[in-house]
Amino acid sequence: MSLDVTALLDDLTLPEKASLTSGSSFWFTAPVERLGIPAIMVADGPHGLRAQPGAGDHVGLGDSVPATCFPTASAVASSWNPALLRRIGAALGQEARARNLSVVLGPGINMKRSPLCGRNFEYFSEDPHLAGELGLGIVEGIQSRGVGTSLKHFAANNQETDRMRVDAQVDERTLREIYLPAFERIVTAGRPWTVMCSYNKVNGTSASENPWLLTTVLRDEWGYDGLVVSDWGAAYHRVPALWAGLDLEMPPDLPRSPEAVVAAVRAGELDEAVLDARVRAVLELVDKGMAVLELDEGFDADAHHRLARAAAAESVVLLKNGSTAGGTPVLPLAPSERVAVVGEFARTPRYQGAGSSQVNPTSLETLLDELTAAHGEVTFAPGYTIGGDGAADDALRAGAVTAAAAADTVVMLLGLPGADESEGFDRTHMNLPANQIATLRAVAAANTAVAVVLVNGATVLLGDVEPHAAALVEAWLGGQAAGGAIADVLTGAVNPSGRLAETVPHRLEDNPSYLNFPGDSRVVRYGEGIFIGYRGYDATRSDVAYPFGFGLSYTEFALTDLDVTLTGSVAGGDLAAQVGVTVTNTGAVAGAEVVQVYVRDLEASVARPVRELKGFTKVDLEPGGSERVTLTLDQRAFSFWSIRRNGWVVEAGEFAIEVGRHSRDLPLVHTVTVDAPSIAEPLGPDSTLHEWLADPVGARLLAEAAAAGQPDPTRDPELLPLLGPAPMSALASMHGLSVDHDTLDKLVERLGGRSGPV
Ligand code: BGC
Repeated sequence: MSLDVTALLDDLTLPEKASLTSGSSFWFTAPVERLGIPAIMVADGPHGLRAQPGAGDHVGLGDSVPATCFPTASAVASSWNPALLRRIGAALGQEARARNLSVVLGPGINMKRSPLCGRNFEYFSEDPHLAGELGLGIVEGIQSRGVGTSLKHFAANNQETDRMRVDAQVDERTLREIYLPAFERIVTAGRPWTVMCSYNKVNGTSASENPWLLTTVLRDEWGYDGLVVSDWGAAYHRVPALWAGLDLEMPPDLPRSPEAVVAAVRAGELDEAVLDARVRAVLELVDKGMAVLELDEGFDADAHHRLARAAAAESVVLLKNGSTAGGTPVLPLAPSERVAVVGEFARTPRYQGAGSSQVNPTSLETLLDELTAAHGEVTFAPGYTIGGDGAADDALRAGAVTAAAAADTVVMLLGLPGADESEGFDRTHMNLPANQIATLRAVAAANTAVAVVLVNGATVLLGDVEPHAAALVEAWLGGQAAGGAIADVLTGAVNPSGRLAETVPHRLEDNPSYLNFPGDSRVVRYGEGIFIGYRGYDATRSDVAYPFGFGLSYTEFALTDLDVTLTGSVAGGDLAAQVGVTVTNTGAVAGAEVVQVYVRDLEASVARPVRELKGFTKVDLEPGGSERVTLTLDQRAFSFWSIRRNGWVVEAGEFAIEVGRHSRDLPLVHTVTVDAPSIAEPLGPDSTLHEWLADPVGARLLAEAAAAGQPDPTRDPELLPLLGPAPMSALASMHGLSVDHDTLDKLVERLGGRSGPV
């Protein structure tokens, strides 16, 4: 069964075409029965299907059929393992097939500009390279099962505050270097069936009506040939959206939208060829998606649950592992230890976020059950209420202290109540609830061996936790099997190998976006530019609680023998670097290390981040095991987006390749010298005096003019710092300071477009 798209375009009437560019209901495209065009179904979401058999909604209210709830994006991002994302994707794809569902609405790959964004649990990272590689994994996994994806939300959708109206004002270099690369990577390498445009405006124009985003960048530059769907309700004006490149409006605004499209074509306001292009994209999507319609398949819920558990365990980040009084590390728990589990979250798990990504899980593990199963009898005290504070908490606190005092080690869960973070609004602070911190203090006063386990979607401040936590485990929102996964890490059945995909600052105010988040008056200005996340903390040399890329293990690793070889050339457009390094597990247990490669431009004519992640790989090693890994960096890894040249540029000079285990532990450094064509602009009237003097020919010509009687701008060394930054044409207007206009014109003519320094 397939569609003859070209023939159908000839047969469709104008109203039928218009109807196809809107859906038919909340989760279905529009069918045209007369021509055998079926409706296909789409559904959220990023970490599990939210397929709704009944009336649909996009805020997570209505029921959905049971589906495996995998760890949320902020969790799996910490795995730094695209292969794991591929496996999760394949499982999601299979679950979609089992529901005859053609497109999964995910992944969400927006950058974590601020830790406050309410949807950070649905996004991967503050780093575009990491988000791109992980998102690519999940797209490849889902699409390997013949099911489509929707890469979202395109673009600059980095907050929930006023998300449908806010204008994200972002300069082009920042868009190109920070907010677009993950999309670009996945679009070009993964060819997602659909891209979902965001609700917000980008530099004054709604994403759904933005021809620069949807046509110039996405299609013309990146070669995208799939479909662009609106976020649910983001197609604000039908006709401009069609012109701009939006193919499909979801959910449909019926009958208004198709009627408006028909009227616009009849009135000559919409070119029918434009409508045809949109209809073609819809038909091509339906053609691909209809393959699942007649399937009668199921999925192995137990196997998917096991995968969810393994994924959640691989996503756990061990932040701290101090020693007990006996001198052994607090974690993993020894089998003979008496363990007290404190925290309501141990029996009432928080494992996913709220909103459109909310999944109805096939089963649900609790830490209490799973730790009891793995470790043996534990005592339990709820210790606090979730979201409350008051007399009830006082009583619970006393119970927790009693339990803690009688135990060798306390496992204490702390986390954000569900109401604190969700789609639809942003957080206003990064703190854990005060009632939980009060219980932690009381517990730690009774027993110093406290292993704190955090359950939260977005990062939280840890200043109140650190002094009372002998060990600290970031478990994120780990999905339906998070309970077992945490137990696996606590007991040592799994050696933690997660690494932070986002920085944990000491204070919210330290975050680079702080002064410009979430904006006001319907505008948010991305004032920090390219300096988001660690790029900002590194540039201002701010101390942070835990740096980007950080994570401990129950074993130790050594990185040695860094070797970097450059191949190709900038002029040929194929510069590449092969980065080789040896990883050795020097500890006593098997584990996985994440080798991280950062590039630092040592001589740049523009402001650049101190360093940027450009490569990483995860290596599993037995104790004593060693492996040589090679990572390839491409030309883009050395480039910046030049606003003067309107393109990617590599500047000649030295670059440091820094290799290590997180962004602030990069012991291996190799400096390479890159040869590249000059990016200097030709000297002209608006080049400054300094620029003329820095160029040997320009300097000689000025000296010749002075010798011929023209005023010499260099004659007074004290004036030179003042005159030097001024354009020559401006100096020429100030009689007596430099050469006159006629002379300047002649000098420029003699230069004939010759390049000088920028
Ligand atoms: C969200 C999307 C989601 C859509 C459909 C919107 O509110 O922003 O991420 O895919 O709803 O549920």
